[in-house]
Parts: sequence; structure tokens; C-alpha cells
Amino acid sequence: MKGEGGSEGAKRRAGQRAAREVESGWVVGLGTGSTAAHAIRALEDADVRGIPTSYQSRGLAIEAGVPLTSLDEVEGVDLSIDGADQFARGSGALIKGGGGAHAREKIIDGAADRFLVVADPTKATDVLDRPVPVECLPDARPVVENRLRECGGEPDLREAAGKDGPVITDNGNLLIDCAFGAIEDPGGLATRLSAIPGVVEHGLFVDLADTVYVGIEEGVERID
Ligand code: 5RP
Repeated sequence: MKGEGGSEGAKRRAGQRAAREVESGWVVGLGTGSTAAHAIRALEDADVRGIPTSYQSRGLAIEAGVPLTSLDEVEGVDLSIDGADQFARGSGALIKGGGGAHAREKIIDGAADRFLVVADPTKATDVLDRPVPVECLPDARPVVENRLRECGGEPDLREAAGKDGPVITDNGNLLIDCAFGAIEDPGGLATRLSAIPGVVEHGLFVDLADTVYVGIEEGVERID
């Protein structure tokens, strides 16, 4: 594609490859972010119904003419396609929530019979070490931040770029990006974060992804 940078090309290849797995009549979870966007656009002519994970993916689906549905109108989700901020090659554990949509993403990706992750090579690592996005009820912020420190994290409220105030999620909550350094035990940390009162959802996705499609220079690498 003309004018497309290396990373954007990799994202497009990964998104389009994952979209090829969709079958006629399926209910598909529509992920959030620039990589999942390529998958949504590739479903333009598909006979599917989509469940968006965010306001952003809802808009993209409408633009692409993908009919929308919701979890309470379907019996199940056949497949979900979503991006990641980082994935661990060995375990398939992910960090998501760069777009602040991880609460809905975890519900829909987790409900799917198969969950495909789409990514460019910059997202791959051996050990997860990016800050983990934590969605938090606004009133609970001081308590949640203290508990995150007790878990060994450094919490940082996500501020809205160019605005004087915090990012507010699609669910009306705050986002705290919490750095833990190298996360050697994502499952253990995920359990501890989920137990904090006031945490709506965190961006550690453990044992949820079935396949990761990584766009590379020569095509697409598949990791199962
Ligand atoms: C949003 C997400 C995104 O999937 C993640 O941030 C990756 O985005 P991109 O494909 O634009 O790099 O988790 O909450």
C-alpha cells in the first residue's frame, strides 16, 4: 500500500490474515486499536455480525458496513480478533489496554471460542515488562493506588493528551498505568490485581489467546 510505513504494513498483514479465519454466519468480537482496525476493515464484505469492544471499533464497523450485535443477543462468540501492547512469546500472556478498552476486550475476547491476537513485531518479548493498564472506579483511586504499590507497582494516572484532566474510559472510569518491571509471574499478578476492590479490570490477559499473528516483512508469523 502506497505511503504505508513498515510497522503499519506489518499491522495490516496481521489483521488481514486473522480476518481470513472468519467464516460465514459467525459472530465476531471486534478488537480495539490500529492493528485490529485492519481486521475490521477486511470484514467489509463478510456475512458476519460483530460485537465491538469499544466506541472506536463500533465506529469502524459501522464505516465498514459490518452489522453489529451484542452479547445479550447471541448464544456465543465464534471468534475474536484483537491487538496487544505486548505479548510474551513463550506463554502467550498479553498486556492490553493501551487504548483503555481492556475491560470490554477481556469480556468479549474471553467469551470467544477462539481468540486471535494481531500484532507487529515490536510487541513481542520474552518477559512482559510494560506498565499494566488498570481501569479503576473514580472514587476508589487512592485506595487502588495504595494497593498497587503494595503489589510492587508504580501507579501513574493516565492523563488525556492536550486536555487538563484524566482519560475517562468508555465505561466512565479512570485508567492507572502501573509499572511492575519484569513480570515473571503474570498469572499470579493478574490474580492479585483482580482482588483489589475498586479495580474494574486490568490489562493482563493470561491463558486467553489461542493464536498470535505477527505481521513481518515477508508475511505473517503464526504463534500457537
Ligand atoms: C486497546 C488495546 C489495543 O489492542 C492495543 O493497545 C494495541 O493497539 P495497536 O494495535 O494500535 O498497537 O489493547 O485497549
